[in-house]
Amino acid sequence: MRKPVILITGANGEIGHGLIEHLHNPDEHSVVALDLKPIDERLQAMCQACIGGDILDDFLMGRLVSEYEIHAIYHLAALLSTRAEYTPETAHSVNVEGTLKLIKLAVEQARWHGHRVKFLFPSSIAAYGLPDVETKARAGRVKETDWNFPQTMYGCNKLYCEHLGRYYTYHYRQLAAEQTRSGVDFRAIRFPGLISAVTMPSGGTSDYAPEMIHAAAKGLPYACFVGPEARIPFMAMPDGIKALLALAAAPEEKLSQRVYNVGAFSPTAAEIRSLVCEAFPKADITFNPDRARARIIDSWPADVNDDPARRDWGWQPDYDAGRAFREYLVPTISRYYREAARG
Ligand code: NAD
Ligand code: SER
Repeated sequence: MRKPVILITGANGEIGHGLIEHLHNPDEHSVVALDLKPIDERLQAMCQACIGGDILDDFLMGRLVSEYEIHAIYHLAALLSTRAEYTPETAHSVNVEGTLKLIKLAVEQARWHGHRVKFLFPSSIAAYGLPDVETKARAGRVKETDWNFPQTMYGCNKLYCEHLGRYYTYHYRQLAAEQTRSGVDFRAIRFPGLISAVTMPSGGTSDYAPEMIHAAAKGLPYACFVGPEARIPFMAMPDGIKALLALAAAPEEKLSQRVYNVGAFSPTAAEIRSLVCEAFPKADITFNPDRARARIIDSWPADVNDDPARRDWGWQPDYDAGRAFREYLVPTISRYYREAARG
């Protein structure tokens, strides 16, 4: 007998850490965690199985089909925006071909067990591309359908995978003699930069915000790689997890689209620095912009219009910038480094 499970790819990453804790509910379903890296020991106890492997490995995909009855997939595995620029073709393989393999897995699973498979996909504000800062200032809160001209490989990958998801949900094999649906129920969120208090980011371009906070908490100096005026939307990780779970739980008939913006707060890098210095008065944060990375940030919107998410599935963030710092980031990060120092 195959066991009904939720599959999380990229499970050992920043979102995976929070998601496993929330999806861990043995009475209702089990979690199978997959990542290139070993899953943190603390999280292993919350998973039915932890699999070390590559989403590009067809043998592994076949094994998943034969061993588990997968009812939902949270496909988090990806190479993030900065890392992807160093190896664009590898990023394309992982981010696009990897996603296609997971969607194909969902199609096969739906055929086997006869239920639709929910496919949750964390897209990104990197799917947008604004040509210059003047246009960015004028654009204001961008809608999902605006400015879809990404300037990074990662952004191109995310935008294309959104289209793949829409295709598999509505138009799969549309010329086949017998019209059948793919069985995939694809839902995506275009996340802002996420800031977690319990994990450190790596390979992203929005990393300057969490890096600033973690450096200050450790008493280390930090030179920010974008200028003080750089502005993109950010979100505290608990709100990111809340958004994914809320979209997953939303009745399908309420969804007027398959890809949703979600917003929370949109500070400049200087405003983030002020909040960090308020919490850690000895923080030593300077600005030393890296022109290429700063240009990527300038191509992302200053803010997003998340009216459809609010209307269709009741999206509302719990944390604005002040609350995120006061009640989540500063206490959790401070406690973490205090305990680490004690050993
Ligand atoms: P992360 O880098 O912390 O985690 C990604 C995980 O994927 C890593 O643990 C990595 O080992 C794993 N992975 C990479 N390639 C793999 C492969 N070939 N096979 C198996 N596992 C592989 O990233 P995150 O912040 O947790 O992001 C998760 C998802 O959310 C990604 O798709 C990312 O694009 C998206 N997202 C993140 C943010 C953010 O600010 N963190 C914002 C928007 C979207
Ligand atoms: N935070 C991510 C990155 O910077 C955006 O998806 O790559």
